[in-house]
Amino acid sequence: MTFSKRIKKLASLVDSDAYVIDVGCDHGLLDIYLTLKNNNKCVACDIKESALNNAIENIKKYNLNIDVKQSDGLNNIDVPPHSTCVIAGMGTSMILHILNNNKIANLDNLIIQTNNDYEELRKEVLKLGFYIVDEVVIQDKKIWYVIIKFKKGYRKYNKIEYIFGPILLKKIDADTFSYFNYELHKYRNILNSIPNKYLFKRLKIKYILNKLNNYIKNVGPSL
Ligand SMILES: C[S@@+](CC[C@H](N)C(=O)[O-])C[C@H]1O[C@@H](n2cnc3c(N)ncnc32)[C@H](O)[C@@H]1O
Repeated sequence: MTFSKRIKKLASLVDSDAYVIDVGCDHGLLDIYLTLKNNNKCVACDIKESALNNAIENIKKYNLNIDVKQSDGLNNIDVPPHSTCVIAGMGTSMILHILNNNKIANLDNLIIQTNNDYEELRKEVLKLGFYIVDEVVIQDKKIWYVIIKFKKGYRKYNKIEYIFGPILLKKIDADTFSYFNYELHKYRNILNSIPNKYLFKRLKIKYILNKLNNYIKNVGPSL
């Protein structure tokens, strides 16, 4: 069985020995990888029985002790104090729906990989009493993924940090640089698609482009 670059990157943000609740585990590959390589105790949960059957089959192949539970979000899950919760491969609105649960009070760490709307995700998770301690990007099969690690606590960020990530904007490495180049091209295309009469919309995109250009100019020469 092979583990994707994305699964390995997700695992790299999980503290070894942590008690991990993987919400929306699907195939259970993250839980298998964490149990094998990171000494984690994992609970693999999913709302879909078919996904859980898939996870159970995969876990059997490795003969591992991973709890598997059917649950809508954390509803059926015991969340012991100091747990880590991973939610990956879903959209921001579903992730926020799952986090709308009192049980998150017992979480120390939250590791999230959303498929969309990073700004909304960062803002709303901050409101739940978490702050950002790490962020990584990874390109897997030509798709860019951003993975964010939150910890219990309070911080404030500015607009551009909510959009692109306070940690990512300080990172100096080839992957992050490529990711911001990709974002630069994306926002240039967005700007080109906005008619001149929408002055305010164009100004907002120009502001973002300016920040991205700054990152590229500052980081490029040091790589
Ligand atoms: C695209 S898969 C991602 C699987 C895995 N987390 C990963 O990153 O590779 C999304 C999974 O989330 C599950 N899911 C969606 N909504 C859920 C919810 N409210 N509670 C638990 N699981 C959910 C789906 O059934 C599906 O198996």
